[in-house]
Amino acid sequence: MDTLTELNRKGYIEESIDPTLDLFEEIEKLKKEKNAIVLAHYYQEPDIQDIADYIGDSLGLSQEAAKTEADVIVFAGVHFMAETAKILSPEKTVLLPDLKAGCSLADSCPPHLFKKFKEKYPDHLVITYVNCTAELKALSDIVCTSTNAVQIVESLPKDQKIIFGPDKNLGAWVAKKTGRELVLWNGACMVHEIFSREKITKLKERHPKAKFIAHPECEESVLQMADYIGSTTGLLKYSINSDALEFIVATESGIIHQMEKASPGKTFIPAPPNNNCACNDCPYMKRNTLEKLYLCLKNGLPEVTVPADIIDRARKPIERMLEISAKLGL
Ligand code: 13P
Ligand code: SF4
Repeated sequence: MDTLTELNRKGYIEESIDPTLDLFEEIEKLKKEKNAIVLAHYYQEPDIQDIADYIGDSLGLSQEAAKTEADVIVFAGVHFMAETAKILSPEKTVLLPDLKAGCSLADSCPPHLFKKFKEKYPDHLVITYVNCTAELKALSDIVCTSTNAVQIVESLPKDQKIIFGPDKNLGAWVAKKTGRELVLWNGACMVHEIFSREKITKLKERHPKAKFIAHPECEESVLQMADYIGSTTGLLKYSINSDALEFIVATESGIIHQMEKASPGKTFIPAPPNNNCACNDCPYMKRNTLEKLYLCLKNGLPEVTVPADIIDRARKPIERMLEISAKLGL
């Protein structure tokens, strides 16, 4: 089977790897050889976080992608994040270890339907959460992440009408924080929507001193119980600065690796989802493995590309977000 057919079928190239190889060493060698950097989201598996040159949330990753001098960016995250890096640095090669690392939230907002939705509100400005396709960003006025969504909305005049998409939970939280009325697209993340309020209540009873911290992509009923709500970076900082010794964490469980590294004396309990699993992994984020990362760096594939006209239109709303964030020191 040729390489492209294989990539389309599986999302990555399958190749046997010598089991005696030290992949950490091999990846370091390849990074130097190819002038490549590895950018990893907090939801990646611990080995990938440990080999990364930069680990961060969606905002930090896009800021890094915009300023890197590397020729190759290996994006250990999901497809929309790699697309954002490509839009910000179109002259660079952007690799994603597994092309099928998608996102349920991005999938919940097909651009052709969003275009029709937007047409119903011609006097509204469109803010889109970065967790969406490049095509959707091209239909937007400003992009935001969970770190800066509140400040981006607040940066606009009070009488400015706003459509917010695709995440209805983040949108509702931002509307509540800012006191603004937002027209919301009905999208959601499968990982953050599945937390069980009942199981969390029981867990809080068993750990009465634990702080319950949650990502704003969670449903309102879960957010109501939280001692702190914030992006992955916000949650990490809160866990470092808090005097509490126990935390129940309602976001993808990958973040716990950095929380434990930063605060070895503290205990982090993943909030339970409404199924039989103890913690909550994003199946898309976890498609990337150290082996696939090594193979993609070695082969220069799979590469993420974005059509030039989409780059042209999607770049402005992302840059607007970066400018506002820089002004606010975010
Ligand atoms: P942040 O990186 O903004 O915390 O968002 C989390 C997320 O769901 C990324 O897919
Ligand atoms: Fe998408 Fe949710 Fe996974 Fe983030 S955690 S990549 S929003 S499915």
